[in-house]
Amino acid sequence: MALDVTWRSPSNIALIKYWGKHGIQLPRNPSLSLTLSECYTQMRLTVEPVREGGKLEVLYDGVPRPAFGSKILSLFKLVSDRYNWLTTSNIVIDSFNTFPHGAGIASSASAMSALALCIEDIDLQLRGSTDSIELNRVSETARLGSGSACRSIFPSMALWGADENINGSSDLYAIPWESQIDPFYKDYCDSILIIHDGEKSVSSTAGHELMNSLPFADIRYDVARKNLHTLIEVLKVKDRVEEFNRLCEYEAMQLHALMMSGESPYILMAPNTISAIQKIWQYRIESGNPVCFTLDAGPNVHVLYPQSHASVIREWLENELTPFCVEGRMIHDRVGAGPLKIN
Ligand code: DP6
Repeated sequence: MALDVTWRSPSNIALIKYWGKHGIQLPRNPSLSLTLSECYTQMRLTVEPVREGGKLEVLYDGVPRPAFGSKILSLFKLVSDRYNWLTTSNIVIDSFNTFPHGAGIASSASAMSALALCIEDIDLQLRGSTDSIELNRVSETARLGSGSACRSIFPSMALWGADENINGSSDLYAIPWESQIDPFYKDYCDSILIIHDGEKSVSSTAGHELMNSLPFADIRYDVARKNLHTLIEVLKVKDRVEEFNRLCEYEAMQLHALMMSGESPYILMAPNTISAIQKIWQYRIESGNPVCFTLDAGPNVHVLYPQSHASVIREWLENELTPFCVEGRMIHDRVGAGPLKIN
């Protein structure tokens, strides 16, 4: 008999960046992210246990996409001790994203976290368990699929990576970071300027790898940790938004500076990324409005601002920044409530 589940899981945007890893998807420094709302993957997992063998079929919006299979099979291999039915079942995965694939919006984060939720849910059903889903386990499985995915399963904010000053923090899974922040940040807005909507020229995995030959990599890991400690304090109150803005931009620019300063340097910003950043800086000075940006490993610009300023800032974005976007596209997203079981 076949079992199936459907989960929706959001993307996330790191404020303190995970960049550099070792072992099996273990981070070199802790990271902290906003969980998004409108940018998500919806995934249906169908599992039919069979006597021998088992095959995997991967679809995107109902259409076969065998190219996505290898990353999924690598994850299955890593977690087959925990979920041994993965290798003895016929499995169909069908998903869609609400945002362009491979454009620096973390599609692997939403997809791998959705997959981890589906796997854990099916596992409970196969064991006839009525327990609720254990999010630490889900986060650990998601991490093995893609590091940043482990942060997508918590509402508002999530922290991933061990730090001796942070209770419960771990390199193995993310922990929720909602109760530690002022409500001001719980409905923060993120308008994503789609500067380019094609595939990235260099994958995140290759980018992490380059950190291993960077002579000042250890300094970067220390800076990230220091920025995290400061940001944690800043997020406790709403009136330190200038420091919030400074830290977000510091991390975003440093991430891209790392890419540009390795032995085989590369650039993921596009000319319009830089033009948009300059516009944001100019607008912030002229208007005094609390707006800043962060960047993922790609050219798109995430414009961050509080809900209280949403209408004025969106009007400015639509008027001034659409010329820098592909077909004028931007996604007005915001901090969200985490994954949702659909079926
Ligand atoms: C720049 O999680 O995509 O978005 O673990 O190799 O799958 P893998 O990498 P990935 O790296 C994300 C890097 C980042 C920063 C972040 O999300 O923290």
